[in-house]
Amino acid sequence: MKSVHTRDGVQELVAEARKGGKTIGFVPTMGALHEGHLSLVRIARREAGCVVVSIFVNPTQFAPHEDFSAYPRTEEKDLSLLEPEGADIVFLPTAAELYPDGFGAALAPGPAAQGLETDFRPHFFGGVVNVVSRLFHAVKPDIAVFGEKDFQQLQVIREMVEKLHQPIKIIGGPIIRDEYGLALSSRNAYLNPEELLIARTLNRVLFDAADAMRKGGKAEDVCREARFRLLKNGFDNADYVEVRWDRILAAVWVGRTRLIDNVAIG
Ligand code: PAJ
Repeated sequence: MKSVHTRDGVQELVAEARKGGKTIGFVPTMGALHEGHLSLVRIARREAGCVVVSIFVNPTQFAPHEDFSAYPRTEEKDLSLLEPEGADIVFLPTAAELYPDGFGAALAPGPAAQGLETDFRPHFFGGVVNVVSRLFHAVKPDIAVFGEKDFQQLQVIREMVEKLHQPIKIIGGPIIRDEYGLALSSRNAYLNPEELLIARTLNRVLFDAADAMRKGGKAEDVCREARFRLLKNGFDNADYVEVRWDRILAAVWVGRTRLIDNVAIG
């Protein structure tokens, strides 16, 4: 496994792998890796001959009041987790390397970005398409793997690749959960023991809501009931609980931590 910090460096290693007849699989991350990220690396491993993982806490997808500086950075541990998974190249660019032009916005995200996250984090998908298009340009992968955990993000990336006719196959990986059903997230590290107990009830509410939808419930009623239960369980607020793409999706606050999750209906 090789670590590189520059675009030229990653391009060179990727070109070498290609010359050897390998296809390139790519997993972009912001580090603080957990089983959710590693599951995507395993998918990439299965689908491609050479696996590239990027670790970059992308400043352009955080608003000034958000947790950019507090976001967990655990580089050494991340590398030790990636090695046994058979990652070939780890790309760890600096902000100056990835944004030599400053943080100027690139593309506008497409219709999938409307509503949900955008209503509460209007800067977010602009930052995501900006960084992912730059990462794609550096790595030039054949396939890229994104988690269904961030379901709207997955849709936005699919749209971007389609709109730009980028020859990259986007694969969605299933949500990895802990033994209580809590979707793994780097931000779970922020939760104190009391908040963790509350956080673990989110998935139950969403699985029940998906059941209710399958039984013919009206989205509006099901989402209202789910929101009511979340607040009763101790969540401080729910930014949204909504049905889209045959999923029920939610963003909730427990203390100062914002969690997102979603469950398939069909
Ligand atoms: P990050 O939050 O580090 O997530 C990296 C990838 O891991 C994303 O595709 C995310 O959906 C996936 N992931 C996170 N938790 C998961 C879980 N429990 N199960 C399955 N997959 C999971 O998402 C980002 O970083 C950034 O926005 C990024 C795409 C890297 C652009 O900066």
